[in-house]
Amino acid sequence: MKRIVVVGTQWGDEGKGKITDFLAQKADIVVRFQGGNNAGHTVVFDGIKRSLHMLPSGILNPRIQNVMSNGMVINPKAFVEEIDKLENFNLKISDRAHIVLPYHLELDKAYEHFRGNEKIGTTHKGIGPAYTDKSSRLGLRVSTFINEERFKIKLAELLKVKNQELRKLGSPRIDLDDLYTEYLLYAKRMAPYVCDTSVYLNKAIEENKNILFEGAQGVLLCLDHGTYPFVTSSSPTASSVPLNTGIAPWLVDGAIGVTKAYTTRVGAGPMPSEILGDLADYIRKVGNEFGTTTGRPRRIGWLDTVVLRHTKRTSGLSFLAVTLLDVLTGIDDLKIAVSYQFKDQEIDYIPAEIEDFEACKPNYITMPGWKEDITLVKSFDELPLNTQNYLNKLNELVGVPLSIFSVGPDRNQTIMVKEIF
Ligand code: IMP
Repeated sequence: MKRIVVVGTQWGDEGKGKITDFLAQKADIVVRFQGGNNAGHTVVFDGIKRSLHMLPSGILNPRIQNVMSNGMVINPKAFVEEIDKLENFNLKISDRAHIVLPYHLELDKAYEHFRGNEKIGTTHKGIGPAYTDKSSRLGLRVSTFINEERFKIKLAELLKVKNQELRKLGSPRIDLDDLYTEYLLYAKRMAPYVCDTSVYLNKAIEENKNILFEGAQGVLLCLDHGTYPFVTSSSPTASSVPLNTGIAPWLVDGAIGVTKAYTTRVGAGPMPSEILGDLADYIRKVGNEFGTTTGRPRRIGWLDTVVLRHTKRTSGLSFLAVTLLDVLTGIDDLKIAVSYQFKDQEIDYIPAEIEDFEACKPNYITMPGWKEDITLVKSFDELPLNTQNYLNKLNELVGVPLSIFSVGPDRNQTIMVKEIF
């Protein structure tokens, strides 16, 4: 395969950054195709941990061309802060991507506040309001943002509408001149990277380059196929890649689904296999399950294969990459959700109504755990038999072959079972 999508199969935080960084060793180009700095991708190599929010996970490798495509929403201030931490990198930004402005962050906070108990638990990065403006044709695209004159005219138009909205919600008014003066500086920093990335990517495909499309969040947070309304405002599925990058659908060769060996979720919304109490605290501590972007403790659950089959169906998955396997070491019995009990029925799908999903109780099988330290293994055969059985069961239940597993945070703790590129 030449062009592969890295898909989060659960509620995000599956370790996509780590898998992208690992696969990027054989890639020419890494593309972020949706979301913005709501994402948090952690890459660890040579013992050093780096957190990325908006930049593609190939950015730390100067050999790789990184692309932020048209499907993204970009916060220019956060963008400048992120690139200022780097020295030597290659980046292209789509002229059609949308800009996140300070009023989007204010609106995000205000909507969450007024939702009260129904709040989604967003990252407060303005992602929902920025995509809403894109759909309502009230967005600001990168091409306009970097055009000094047009930016000011457009901003004046937009602020007329946005300041009314902010006033109604009791949020502070935004001053045109202040905003323009500050953001013009960011626009100048962004401009050298901007181009038509669809033209660039199509040319790269003609040249037979290896391309990784790096999804942010997970399919259960997809605006269409996730647990609506507890979702983000974009689609991390493999099927969203063509639209969000400007390539033809048939040019995507396949998708690698990244899944934790268990489940986590940040923010509100149902999670049928959630574990509460001491065991959850233990897994949270060992797995360092705290948000990269917000620092919030993540909710913990058993592996849920109804979720994974849902992802396989709605996104398409060619291979699985299983991460954080080492976190389960030392737990006697490992449960795996294989179906749900919903109103006297056994079901193998996620109901559309959130209240119905909330009513689903998982049916579990139990697999024996392992006690051996697996953090240094270098092949599947070196894993304890019970770990092998756990992985084999997962593949069997999801119906997707294993290509990678990882046994620790470092790049060299990632083991390839089947080559992808
Ligand atoms: P938003 O994307 O900030 O609007 O947040 C919507 C939902 O998606 C919330 O439940 C967030 O916690 C969740 N979310 C957004 N980005 C990520 C991520 O990168 N990892 C995990 N959850 C995320």
